[in-house]
Amino acid sequence: MSTQSTVKRVTTHVLSEMKLKGEKITMLTAYDYSMARIIDQAGIDAILVGDSASNVMAGYETTLPITLDQMIYHGASVVRGVKRALVVVDMPFGSYQGNSKEALCSAIRIMKETAADAVKLEGGEEILESVQRILSAGIPIMGHLGLTPQSIHKFGTYAIRAKEPDEAEKLVRDAHLLEKAGCFALVLEKVPAALAARVAKEIAIPVIGIGAGGGVDGQVLVIHDMLGINQEFSPRFLRRYHNLFAEMTGAVGNYIADVKSGDFPNEREQY
Ligand code: KIV
Repeated sequence: MSTQSTVKRVTTHVLSEMKLKGEKITMLTAYDYSMARIIDQAGIDAILVGDSASNVMAGYETTLPITLDQMIYHGASVVRGVKRALVVVDMPFGSYQGNSKEALCSAIRIMKETAADAVKLEGGEEILESVQRILSAGIPIMGHLGLTPQSIHKFGTYAIRAKEPDEAEKLVRDAHLLEKAGCFALVLEKVPAALAARVAKEIAIPVIGIGAGGGVDGQVLVIHDMLGINQEFSPRFLRRYHNLFAEMTGAVGNYIADVKSGDFPNEREQY
């Protein structure tokens, strides 16, 4: 029987078992209560309160401006809407890179104030001390390697990462380091499919890909992208399951027309 039909509450342990059984893990982002309820009730395994909220909720060009307080607001809203899925909250830029003590304080705030199940951090060796300190407090961590949008000013582009052997080897080393430190899962973003498949084979923790091919243990997408709410973003890896932008502008257009014409509200829609 599949985990989707048998598990009442998804934990980090459930995700490990899914990898062992070769059952694919599904993850989507959510940033608010209503969307989280829909995704959870549809049967998703994990919900990521991504710092992509900075882009799709707040309209910033990068993920850098979103604050710890804002991530906590989004995280707590999502948790209130979820009964089954594992909820992971992104630690925002500036909340963990400075020093490991500050990283721990930020992670504790997220866990206490959102009631989420885990946090996600971007980076490998450079942030290992922070990772170890957060883990030592009993807080589960999902790692994130490959394209790490918080470092966009270092990369200068959102192009595919780790195509060159040196960068690919560093990514593999970092994946092993994060696994050894005790992370329960790893996101790989926009890296060659063969490299991602190699990492998923070499490490025992689940590897969840975005633009990393099908040889990994699960997939994650940004909900606004997969539902077609956000039309501006069309990378090759994105599959659009709906065109909600068109559906919503159509519905709003109908409402405007009905109000203007006096058709809304009708006799039955008033007291
Ligand atoms: O912030 C986010 O939405 C993410 C995913 C793209 C993995 O980190």
